[in-house]
Amino acid sequence: MKKKGLLGIFENLSSGQFPQFKSLWGDDREAAHEHGPEHTKTAAPESAIEIILKENAEGIAVGLDVGSSKIVALVGRLDAQQKVEILGFAEVPSEGLIRGSVVNLTKTAAAIREALHSAITMANVEVNQVITNYSGLCNNLDQRGVIIREDMIHEIGNEDIIRLKKEMQGNPYPPGEQIVYLEPQHFIIDDEPDIRDPIGMAGQRFESDFHVITGEVTGLQNLQKCVRQAQVGVKDIYPTGIASAEAVICEEEKEEGIAVIDIGAAVTSISVYKHGIMRYADTILLGGNTINADIKEFTGLSSKQAELMKKVYGSVLPEQIDPSEIIQYKILNGTKDKFISKVDLALIIQSRMEELIGLAYNRIEEALKGRCLTCGIVFTGGDANLPNLRVLGEQITGLKCHGGSPTLHLQKSAVPSKWAEKLTSPAYATSIGLLKMGLTKVA
Ligand SMILES: Nc1ncnc2c1ncn2[C@@H]1O[C@H](COP(=O)(O)OP(=O)(O)OP(=O)(O)O)[C@@H](O)[C@H]1O
Ligand SMILES: [Mg+2]
Repeated sequence: MKKKGLLGIFENLSSGQFPQFKSLWGDDREAAHEHGPEHTKTAAPESAIEIILKENAEGIAVGLDVGSSKIVALVGRLDAQQKVEILGFAEVPSEGLIRGSVVNLTKTAAAIREALHSAITMANVEVNQVITNYSGLCNNLDQRGVIIREDMIHEIGNEDIIRLKKEMQGNPYPPGEQIVYLEPQHFIIDDEPDIRDPIGMAGQRFESDFHVITGEVTGLQNLQKCVRQAQVGVKDIYPTGIASAEAVICEEEKEEGIAVIDIGAAVTSISVYKHGIMRYADTILLGGNTINADIKEFTGLSSKQAELMKKVYGSVLPEQIDPSEIIQYKILNGTKDKFISKVDLALIIQSRMEELIGLAYNRIEEALKGRCLTCGIVFTGGDANLPNLRVLGEQITGLKCHGGSPTLHLQKSAVPSKWAEKLTSPAYATSIGLLKMGLTKVA
C-alpha cells in the first residue's frame, strides 16, 4: 500500500517564492463555522494554497530532520537494489526549538539553510523540495473518507487515493489543528469492505477508514517558514515517529506488530504498527535533556558536562555495575575534585528512563486495543545509545526490545567511511527515514 503525508502540498503564499499557485480552499473556508466552536473545518491558514513544487533532479530526494539538538540534511537516491544511497550529508547544531517546536525562527532558519546548502553542494544535484519532520504534539483520530468516482471506464489508481486523502482535509478537526499525516486502514469499494489494495479494481463509491494524525497549525507553519527561507519548498511533512520507523523497521515487522520509540534530546517520538498499518504516532515532551538536567542537579555540573558524563559513563542498569567504580569530576570554575559512583549515575538515568518508557508504553498499549506486538519495541534516537536500554525496556514492558540502527535500508557500501560511524547511529534514524520516504512514497 502506498502512503504519503499530505501536508507538504499546502504551503503559505506569503513567501511569494513560487509562481505556480492554484487556490484549493475556495469557499469552503466559510463553511468552517458550521461545526461550531469545538470543531472547525481543517484549520486552513488564511493563505493556504496548493503549490506545484518544482521537482528535484531525477531520482533525488532530500530528508531534513529538524531536531532539538541538531539539524540534519541528507541528499540521496535509490540504487539498483532499492537501497538508499547517500550523496550529501550535513549536520548543524540546533538551538531554535523547545519541546520539539520551533520557537526561534531566525536561528532555526539559519541552521536549516546551512545544513541544506552544505549537503546539496556536496551532492552537486538540483534540489527544489525537501521532506521534513514534525515533532510537536499530535492528535490521533479515526475517520472515514468517501469519494464518488465518475470515471467508471478506468480502474482505481493512485490519483483516487490522493483525491480521497484531499477530501479528508475538509473534515472537522480540533481548533488550531490540521492533518500532518493520514493512512488508510482499509478501503471499501461499493460497500465491499476490508480491501487492503484497491489499485486496479473497478468501483464507483470509494471509501476508506483513515488513521489521521493532526498537529498544531502554528508549529507546522513555523517549520515551513524556516525551510522556505533556504529557497526550497516542503514536499511533505511526516511525524517524527513515523519517519524514524521508516529507517529502522521493515514491512514484515509492521505486519507482525511493532512499536518504535525514538528518544531524542527534547522529545520522545512514538509510532505503532500492526497488520502492515500505522496505528498511532505521537510525541512525549521528555527526552535526553531531562536526563542531563537530572544529572546536573545531582552533581552541580553544567548542562554540557552533565551530557558528556551521561554519554561516557551512563547506563540504565545499576545492578550490572561494579559498585567500586567511581567517576572523578570538577564542576565549572570549581577547584576541588568531586566524585560520583557509576551506580549512582546509573540510578539517576534509570529512574528517568523508567518514567519515559512507562509513559510511552501506556500510549502503545492504548493504541493496540488488545492486539499483540509480535516484534516488540525498537528503541532509536540519540539516547538509545545508552547501554542496556533494551534490557530495561524488556523489564518494564515484558516485550521483546531491541536497538534500531538506521542501516537497514541504507546502501552501506556507498556510505563514505567518514560518515559511516554517524549514519549508523540511532540519532540519524529520522533523517534517513525521511530521505527513504522521499524516495519511495508515491501516494
Ligand atoms: N552515546 C550516547 N549515549 C547516551 N546518550 C547519547 C549518546 N549520543 C547522543 N546521546 C543523547 O541523544 C540526544 C540527542 O538525540 P537526537 O540527536 O536523536 O536528538 P534530536 O533529534 O536532535 O532531538 P529531538 O528528537 O528531541 O528533537 C541527547 O540527549 C544526547 O545526550
Ligand atoms: Mg530527533
